[in-house]
Amino acid sequence: MKEVVFENAMTTLAQLQEREQRVLCRTYGRYPLSVARAFGCRLVDHQGREYVDLLSGIAVCNLGHSHAELLDVIREQAARLIHVSNLFYQEEQLVLAEKLTATCACDRVFFCNSGAEANEAAIKLARRYMQIIRGKNASEVISLSGSFHGRTLATLAATGQDKVKEGFAPLPEGFTTVAFGDFGSLEQAVNERTAAVLVEIIQGEGGVRPLDNAYLRMLQNFCATRGVLLMVDEVQTGMGRCGTFWAHQHAGLRPDVFTTSKALANGLPMGAMLCTEEAARGFVPGSHATTFGGGALTASVAAKVVDILQRDELPQRAERVGRMALDLFTGLRAIFPDQIVAVRGRGLMLGIELAFPGQEVWRALLDAGYVVNLTQDRILRLLPPLVIAEEDLRGFTQTLGEILERQEVKQS
Ligand SMILES: Cc1ncc(COP(=O)(O)O)c(C=O)c1O
Repeated sequence: MKEVVFENAMTTLAQLQEREQRVLCRTYGRYPLSVARAFGCRLVDHQGREYVDLLSGIAVCNLGHSHAELLDVIREQAARLIHVSNLFYQEEQLVLAEKLTATCACDRVFFCNSGAEANEAAIKLARRYMQIIRGKNASEVISLSGSFHGRTLATLAATGQDKVKEGFAPLPEGFTTVAFGDFGSLEQAVNERTAAVLVEIIQGEGGVRPLDNAYLRMLQNFCATRGVLLMVDEVQTGMGRCGTFWAHQHAGLRPDVFTTSKALANGLPMGAMLCTEEAARGFVPGSHATTFGGGALTASVAAKVVDILQRDELPQRAERVGRMALDLFTGLRAIFPDQIVAVRGRGLMLGIELAFPGQEVWRALLDAGYVVNLTQDRILRLLPPLVIAEEDLRGFTQTLGEILERQEVKQS
C-alpha cells in the first residue's frame, strides 16, 4: 500500500509541488500558494499565513468562504438527500428555478455543473430551436474576439482566443468570431445560417473589457429584427458581481438565453442555462440531459445563495464598493501614469491594466498577502467576494502603490 499524506502544518509548498508533479495531469500553472483553509475573505496556507482573497476562487465564493448559513444548509441537506438523478422530481431544484426566474426576464432553467456545460446547453438549444421549431437551416453561433466561453470542444470553438485552441483541431463547425465592440463587423457576419450571437457583458479572461450599453442595445434590436437568438454568458459576471443581479440588467437587456455558474452555489459545482418560454421550445424530453445537474445538495445551497444576495443587498453593495475601489485605482493611476494604462470594470469585477508584463507586480502582491489574478499578461484582475471590507481594498491599493514605486525606482 502506498502511503497517503494528508494536510498538516508540516506540509510545505515544495512537498505538494513534488507530489503533484507525479500524479496530476499538467494542466495548471499554479500560484505558489497551498491553501489549507479559508474563511470570510481570507485564505490560510499550511504554515498559517493569511492572505486577503481578492479573487474568490475566480468569481465563485461571492459570499466569502465558510459562510455559516451555507454550512448549515449543506449539513441539513446532506443528511436528507444529496443525489437521486434527474429521473426523479426534486423540490430543491424547483425552489431554485423559481428563485432564479424571479430575478430576471427568463422563464425556464436547465441545470448543469459548470460554465462550459451551461454554454454548451445554450448552443445546443439555439441550434435545435432554429432547426426543429423554426424549421431553418441555421446553426451558426457568432461570438466576439477576446471572449472566453469554456473548454469543451464547442465552447472552445465559440471562444475568441486562439491560444486556448492550440492542438485541439478539428473543432466543431458553425462558429464565427467578430471583432469586439465593432457593431459593423457583427452586422456583416449575421446571415440566414446564424442561430445566435453569444456575448459576455464584461469579458473576464479577455481582460475585464466591458461592452458599452449602446452596443448592447443595438445588438438586442438587431438580433430581434434578424430573428437570431441573443445569448449572454454571465458565468463570471452574474450573481450580483457587477452591481445588478445579472450584468445584462445594467443595459436593460432581455436576452433569449443566458448562462450562469461560478458563484451560483458559492463553491459547489453548479451551472444553469436560463431562457425564455419561446426559446425553451427547442428542448423536449430526451434532447439534453446531465446526471448531476440540479442535484438536491447544490440546488439547496444555491437557493440560499440567492436569498442571501437579495436579503443583504449584495449586488448594490458590489456597485457601491466597486465605485469606491475604482476611485482608489484612478487615484493611483494619477500618481503612476507611466505604469497604469487604464482602470476599468463594474461592481466588483475590476481590472488594472499595466503598461508592462505584470508577473513581477502580481508576485509582489502575493508576497505582501494579496491574492489577485493576472490576465492577458498585463491586467491585474480583481474579483473579490462581494462582502469584501473596504479596508481590504484600501490596503491593496496602498500596497500596489508601494510596489509600483519600488518598480519606478528600479527602472530609473
Ligand atoms: C465567461 C466565462 N464563460 C465560461 C467559463 C467556463 O466555466 P467553467 O470553467 O466552469 O467551465 C468561464 C470560466 O472562467 C468564464 O469566465
